Amino acid sequence: MKITIFGSGYVGLVTGACFAEVGNDVLCVDIDHQKIQRLEQGEIPIYEPGLEALVVENTSKGRLKFTTDIKKGVDFGLYQFIAVGTPPDEDGSADLRHVLSVAESIGTYMEEYRIIINKSTVPVGTADLVKEKVTSVLKERNVIMDFDVVSNPEFLKEGDAVNDFMKPERIVIGVDNPRTKELLRFLYSPFNRSHERFIAMDIRSAELTKYAANSMLATKISFMNEIANIAERVGADIESVRKGIGSDSRIGFSFIYPGVGYGGSCFPKDVQALERTSRKFGYDARILQAVEAVNNDQKGTIVKKIIDHFNGDIKGKVFAVWGLAFKPNTDDMREAPSRTVIEALWKEGATVKAYDPVAMEEAARIYGERDDLKYAANPEEAIIGADALVVLTEWLVFRSPDFEMIKRELRQPVVFDGRNIYSPEYMEQAGFVYYSVGRRP
Ligand code: UGA
Repeated sequence: MKITIFGSGYVGLVTGACFAEVGNDVLCVDIDHQKIQRLEQGEIPIYEPGLEALVVENTSKGRLKFTTDIKKGVDFGLYQFIAVGTPPDEDGSADLRHVLSVAESIGTYMEEYRIIINKSTVPVGTADLVKEKVTSVLKERNVIMDFDVVSNPEFLKEGDAVNDFMKPERIVIGVDNPRTKELLRFLYSPFNRSHERFIAMDIRSAELTKYAANSMLATKISFMNEIANIAERVGADIESVRKGIGSDSRIGFSFIYPGVGYGGSCFPKDVQALERTSRKFGYDARILQAVEAVNNDQKGTIVKKIIDHFNGDIKGKVFAVWGLAFKPNTDDMREAPSRTVIEALWKEGATVKAYDPVAMEEAARIYGERDDLKYAANPEEAIIGADALVVLTEWLVFRSPDFEMIKRELRQPVVFDGRNIYSPEYMEQAGFVYYSVGRRP
């Protein structure tokens, strides 16, 4: 089958590579010339395990192609995926400029029936806007042509995206006519083999499903962070509580890890956008507001512990920071808790020596050269001469470090663990002053 994908960012690229891998002909379109040139040479602009191999393999087989030529993209595929960004605008609503500009291009260049599939995360009602846009452009062209708009939200997790696409837990399709539904079912059949994962529904429900899923997961995290804060105050241990409640299959073990707050390009943006949408429709979404507020505060709790430990004064202190990405297995630092923490430490006059297994380049891109930020070449280098260690991302390499070295090289044996990766008992016995989340120091 012939598939066009507009937007070669995270979602578009994974979608394109995976559809090509199962034998389709895929054309990825992006307006960024440099990005397309790099992709043609097999250079992947993001860090995502397994993606580069897929792109290189399918490009070499001729099944995956890249272009900046929008008309060529519209001519190419019966299936036209929109996978462009929807950044938050000033008030936190999703900015639909890019989505609607693709819709306009499709309307401008289409010469036969097209299925327009929206994969970008967009507010409820966007499919209708896309439909209106294409209809109005066709009208201007004075042509009558059939097309369909489908909502197909994406549930990929960064760091595990290829696997998530190849073996999805569900394929959600919002569609308003049975024929298009069957075409979509056919398109997704390679990923829908062992049992039924195809969930078709009306378009608005599919659009809302995406926000509801991310908001539910964000709610679990904020809820657990709140319980962790309570646990600290009442003298309970959140890790025991986590096990105690996670074993209830109605609650489950996933997404109940307390920490330094959720980050990334999705949860913060989507919780906010759904709250704004609700407000627009006259509903005051109090749970979503609380989820966001708890998360914003949570990023500051570790900073408060650091400042309190040093009796209110961290001016001139040096902190080794392990982990900059918003979670392991990605170099993504969008809305990363590390940014809030580092910036708060700077504000208090401290210096940071940072290390992350893959996000160092990204950090340098964001912060550049500054006197209060040193980029360490490895975890050990960050520790040497620092006043304390602060762990912000639970990368595997941080889980079992050389504690003897840490104790020897730190000026004081103090560890602030924002992800609860070490055992309080072990740390105490090893002679550390150890702070974590929701456990007694
Ligand atoms: C999230 C969703 O998990 C995907 O299903 C969705 O497709 C994606 O957003 C999207 O909308 O595109 P992602 O942003 O890659 O995926 O990251 P997650 O693995 O969900 O983690 C989000 C944040 O929550 C991270 O900062 C992580 O550290 C934090 N987290 C996660 C916790 O603090 N505790 C947990 O128990 C789980």
